[in-house]
Amino acid sequence: MGDLLRGIVWDGSAYHVVDDLEVRPPGPGEVEVRMTAAGLCHSDLAVVRGTIPFPTPVVLGHEGAGVVSALGPGVTGLAEGEAVALTTLGNCGACEHCDAGQPTMCRSTFGRRPQPFTWRGTPTYNFANTSCFAERVVVAANQCVPVPDDVPAASAALLGCGVLTGVGAVLNRAQVRPGSTVAVIGVGGIGLNVIQGAALAGATRVVAVDTNPAKAELAYRFGATDFVDPSGRDTAGAVRDLLPADSTGVDYSFECVGHPALARAAVDMLGWHGTAVLLGVPAEAAELSVPITDLYLDKSVMGCRYGSSRPQRDVRTYLGLYRGGRLLLDELVTRTYPLDAVGQAMHDLETGDLARGVLTFTR
Ligand SMILES: NC(=O)c1ccc[n+]([C@@H]2O[C@H](COP(=O)([O-])OP(=O)(O)OC[C@H]3O[C@@H](n4cnc5c(N)ncnc54)[C@H](O)[C@@H]3O)[C@@H](O)[C@H]2O)c1
Ligand SMILES: [Zn+2]
Ligand SMILES: [Zn+2]
Repeated sequence: MGDLLRGIVWDGSAYHVVDDLEVRPPGPGEVEVRMTAAGLCHSDLAVVRGTIPFPTPVVLGHEGAGVVSALGPGVTGLAEGEAVALTTLGNCGACEHCDAGQPTMCRSTFGRRPQPFTWRGTPTYNFANTSCFAERVVVAANQCVPVPDDVPAASAALLGCGVLTGVGAVLNRAQVRPGSTVAVIGVGGIGLNVIQGAALAGATRVVAVDTNPAKAELAYRFGATDFVDPSGRDTAGAVRDLLPADSTGVDYSFECVGHPALARAAVDMLGWHGTAVLLGVPAEAAELSVPITDLYLDKSVMGCRYGSSRPQRDVRTYLGLYRGGRLLLDELVTRTYPLDAVGQAMHDLETGDLARGVLTFTR
């Protein structure tokens, strides 16, 4: 075991901001990364709320940036001191899915529950192969994507979930076509990236939907053409009301909240040949019920893990678009918080007007 680290431990009932966390050294093919910034995604909050069942104690966080601080045996292509964005997969690189360019389908990337940390003598779980709410983490080398030093750490951090998931869902999974009409339900860190992905893909109508009217301004800044607050109304009807009288519905809808009624609304607003993409993670037992005949006119419903991303390639593409002013990263960072303020940051994520809140690490 190495030095004692600062980090946030969730024990099932409270956050502990601690100074006595330990992480094991990097093994073959792994690196240690000193974190500089970590975004808060609703999936972290979902563990706290019990929507995503997860064993404790655990170090949450899966959207971060940092600096490589130690290389495990056999690691090449990364150097100590290099700035990186972390991705959550760490795929094996050798299976048929990796070979086919589908690392999100690599079996080795899902369901692992290692305990690389120790807190006060107790083995402590890692979350989403990352756990970036700790000063140092140990990850597979291929979870690190080098990021130029001049990209602010808080912006780079958001590449690892919000951007890969949201933009990837549009470009990789749905493959939205130019001229499309797109609806995005939920204007949080994921939804905003779906919105900017849809704009990049050439969608001509991007309808953002959120029950928090404070999200309208953000939605427009990221490329929405319309915003609707469906509070007290039927969500699909609120979107349909905005479409031309001869429209059969939207070409694509993206559910970015994690609520079964909104997944149903995503289907209900589809036009002929439309596709609903379900990104939100609801409670484990939640089911989607849809009249089968409603799908008859070539409609599709698809799930999507992590934007069906190829992180090494996609992050580089997104950084190029960011450089060219075509993808917003800095604007995703609404507020930064010190580690001690994690409770406030989680509260703001649940109730506030954040694009993203980001924890920053200073020693
Ligand atoms: N599929 C994946 O790989 C993947 C990856 C990351 C996150 N997620 C999931 O995506 C979802 C969104 O995450 P996020 O970080 O963007 O969350 P977030 O909290 O930042 O945003 C959620 C947004 O939904 C809005 N909202 C809440 N209820 C609504 C309603 N009834 N109608 C319309 N809008 C409503 C909120 O006001 C908020 O703006 C979560 O379920 C998260 O677990 C999935
Ligand atoms: Zn996430
Ligand atoms: Zn694999």
